[in-house]
Amino acid sequence: MAQNLQLTQFLNKVVLITGAAGGIGRAVARALLETGAIVCLGDVNTDGCEETVQPYLEKNKSAKHLIYALDVTNASSVKGFVDIVVATFGRIDCAFNNAGILSGSKPLADVDEIEYDKVVDIDMKGIFLCLKYEIPAMINTGDKGVIVNTSSTLGIVGDKLSAAYIAAKHGVVGLTRAAAMDYADQNIRVNALAPGLTQTAMTEHWLADPKYQGPLLSNIPMKRPAMPEEMVGMTLFLLSDASSYITGHVMTVDGGMTM
Ligand code: NAI
Repeated sequence: MAQNLQLTQFLNKVVLITGAAGGIGRAVARALLETGAIVCLGDVNTDGCEETVQPYLEKNKSAKHLIYALDVTNASSVKGFVDIVVATFGRIDCAFNNAGILSGSKPLADVDEIEYDKVVDIDMKGIFLCLKYEIPAMINTGDKGVIVNTSSTLGIVGDKLSAAYIAAKHGVVGLTRAAAMDYADQNIRVNALAPGLTQTAMTEHWLADPKYQGPLLSNIPMKRPAMPEEMVGMTLFLLSDASSYITGHVMTVDGGMTM
């Protein structure tokens, strides 16, 4: 049985990553480039994707990768990403569906419908569209596929002032379990990563402000935010054969926040 923890297993694997222009997506993309994987980066910010691959290309000019101007809320954009990856590299072995945005900080009744729709469109419908097009491509072009969707600790527990984000990230957990159930017997595994507070562009304004930093860190037993690189181990574990009997699960990486 395959229980392989070695990173060499990613050599020449075709991995699709959304939200690859910064933060957690960039850290995972760079780690996978180091392993020799063929990394396909999708993001609204293609300049950011170029920056993601730059240090790696300086070391290894023959690195195989693809950058795509992706909007995860748009079905034809997501389908176009999947189609171009399959047309270029022949298959998709792994996908890390990670693009997301934060909602504004306000009580539920103050959230306007436009803001709610935007957060749910990117953070939840975006995951639905990725799964909808990735899974048939994996089934049609290979004998197995592995997917990790980025949820959040706020996909597991509640918090104040983040209704749209909490709804969307709980929805990501639901979509993860639904897809895992629907396709487990076709060798498709689907799990979710639930990061705790992580130092990225998404959170830098909170972490830089002493008014918010203290309360944010006080909820974390380890008393610090994660660095994006600290999400790499769990993501690669879930994408690898080392997790070959795990599907439909949510893995927290949160400094003890939800224990
Ligand atoms: P980030 O802001 O660095 O990365 C998010 C990426 O998603 C950006 O590159 C952005 O351009 C891209 N994106 C936004 N809208 C998009 C769209 N419509 N189509 C395609 N790409 C789009 O933030 P971070 O922190 O790396 O976030 C990655 C994921 O982790 C998100 O899903 C976020 O909700 C989740 N997360 C982050 C936490 C944190 O504390 N930073 C905690 C828990 C979850």
